[in-house]
Amino acid sequence: MALLKIVHYPESVLLTVGKPVEEFDEDLKKLIEDMFETMYDAKGVGLAAPQIAVSQRLFVMDCSGGEDETQKIALINPEIIHVEGKQIGDEGCLSFPGLYQKVQRNLRTVVRYQNVRGEFQELDGEDLTARCVLHETDHCDGIVFLDQMTFLKREMAKRKIKKLQKTGKWE
Ligand code: NI
Repeated sequence: MALLKIVHYPESVLLTVGKPVEEFDEDLKKLIEDMFETMYDAKGVGLAAPQIAVSQRLFVMDCSGGEDETQKIALINPEIIHVEGKQIGDEGCLSFPGLYQKVQRNLRTVVRYQNVRGEFQELDGEDLTARCVLHETDHCDGIVFLDQMTFLKREMAKRKIKKLQKTGKWE
């Protein structure tokens, strides 16, 4: 396994719609293993392929932070098929190091996806799971959480990004 380099906003791959995954082969398995390792190393709960400069529609997530094996899931070609309710909460992103901002999301989502063998599955989740699924599916579509903020919060976030970039921690 290998740690992959996480790219930071405004890298263009983060703003590009990912290509659907068509080959469910050994290379895909290896990529997913490396993505899990990279996500756990960075203490994230989700990581999408565009964040490691691979412009494809897939992501890994584990909202338990490695505590519960059943929450360790790779979602390939995700499609949100149902949403309901609302939640507002702080959100962060490994491609925006040090930035946390309130974002409104749906409270519940049902996502249809393919697993590593190409089999279709559905995941019905609420709260943090729903937030993570929506955030990571957005990454697959070239959308970052900055795009989901209100105008005011987005302007605040942009100013904070500029400050963080000056510290040299954000390249
Ligand atoms: Ni993110």
